[in-house]
Amino acid sequence: MARIKVKKPLVEMDGDEMTRVIWASIKEKLILPYLDIDLKYFDLGLKHRNETDDKVTLDAAKAVAEYGVGVKCATITPDNERMTEYNLKKMWPSPNAQIRGFLDGTVFRKPIIVKNIKPAVRAWKKPITVARHAYGDIYKAQEIVTAQPGKAELIFTASDGQTSKVTVADLKGPGVFMGMHNTIVSIQSFARACIQYALTEKIDIWFSAKDTISKKYDGKFKEIFAAEIAAAKTKLDAAGVNYRYFLIDDAVAQIMKNEGGMLWAMKNYDGDVLSDMIAAGFGSLGMMTSVLVSPDGKFEFEAAHGTVKRHYYKYLKGEETSTNSVASIFAWTGAIKKRGALDNTPDAVKFAEKLETAVISCIENGCVTKDLVPLMDAPPKKIYNTDEFIDEVASRL
Ligand SMILES: NC(=O)c1ccc[n+]([C@@H]2O[C@H](COP(=O)([O-])OP(=O)(O)OC[C@H]3O[C@@H](n4cnc5c(N)ncnc54)[C@H](O)[C@@H]3O)[C@@H](O)[C@H]2O)c1
Repeated sequence: MARIKVKKPLVEMDGDEMTRVIWASIKEKLILPYLDIDLKYFDLGLKHRNETDDKVTLDAAKAVAEYGVGVKCATITPDNERMTEYNLKKMWPSPNAQIRGFLDGTVFRKPIIVKNIKPAVRAWKKPITVARHAYGDIYKAQEIVTAQPGKAELIFTASDGQTSKVTVADLKGPGVFMGMHNTIVSIQSFARACIQYALTEKIDIWFSAKDTISKKYDGKFKEIFAAEIAAAKTKLDAAGVNYRYFLIDDAVAQIMKNEGGMLWAMKNYDGDVLSDMIAAGFGSLGMMTSVLVSPDGKFEFEAAHGTVKRHYYKYLKGEETSTNSVASIFAWTGAIKKRGALDNTPDAVKFAEKLETAVISCIENGCVTKDLVPLMDAPPKKIYNTDEFIDEVASRL
């Protein structure tokens, strides 16, 4: 059978543990037999990151910037335990954070929906994609705890020496306070990445904050979003994408009654908390995809879950595993669809859609991995092990 030609290269980033095992299988059984594709391969497995003094991560990020589309396997973010386990030279930083920083990107998480797994919220019919602004606010704040009464002040010294000062509180007794910040450039990048994503997916944008209370800080976010939306108005109108601003409490209430199908953009803390609520509401981590989008339109696709360490140790002992490969497969299909759309190769897009249909039909016919069983309306036909599930998808494809 002639393989479908993918015109331009795709950056492939390999990873760790059970997801690395699945990755190889997906490539061998679902991708390479069908696509003639130039994969620019980077091994981001922790062993290789350590051997290259983590240079490989930066090289991979540069390649995504150069070629425009990447697909990434889950990777270990080292902690003390991993330092010993992998005999690391250094506690290398999270590859995801580094790539995100290099591309100035925003992460969008989107659930994969199947008919026989109903979301916890009855109204939800379509995926709710969450975008979290991953810079600043309480995550880069400075805090003080005081046992004494006193005055807390906020002072800004501009580069020309001018200062502005406000009193935060006159504390009559012990207290706590915090100073946090954000940058206009970072908020603009976030808004632009959201616009890029919504244009690609042709979905409406919701942005929520609390500008009635935080008139300047959250007010600035609201103002910047409105300005970026206005600047992109022609493109948004042509794609049928609408923009709505909500107070965060209103957005939370509305989301519980809405059928979904929108991009919900949030500030850092709101996105941190509510993305987990949305993920749990839709079901399993194994069914959640993630895409990093830069403001200038570079895309990196991956599964939202980690390396599934527990399964990997069972696998190493030769025990049977039932790891869900759906989000990893959708990382590949997302990247191939994006490559096809950018290169104007509809056959590549069609192939990726067929692969997605094969996965969905598998699950909707009751052929699933173990993690999905407690979420299903009716008991499954069969619980597949890791390999059997990928083989079943391959046979349907
Ligand atoms: N994007 C990434 O690269 C990424 C994200 C999160 C965690 N991690 C890394 O992954 C490693 C393990 O972290 P963790 O255990 O907190 O997260 P994890 O996502 O690997 O697992 C969390 C829980 O969900 C289950 N689970 C997750 N994905 C599953 C799947 N596809 N099929 C079946 N069950 C699944 C796991 O068994 C576990 O109980 C850590 O080293 C962490 O640094 C990487």
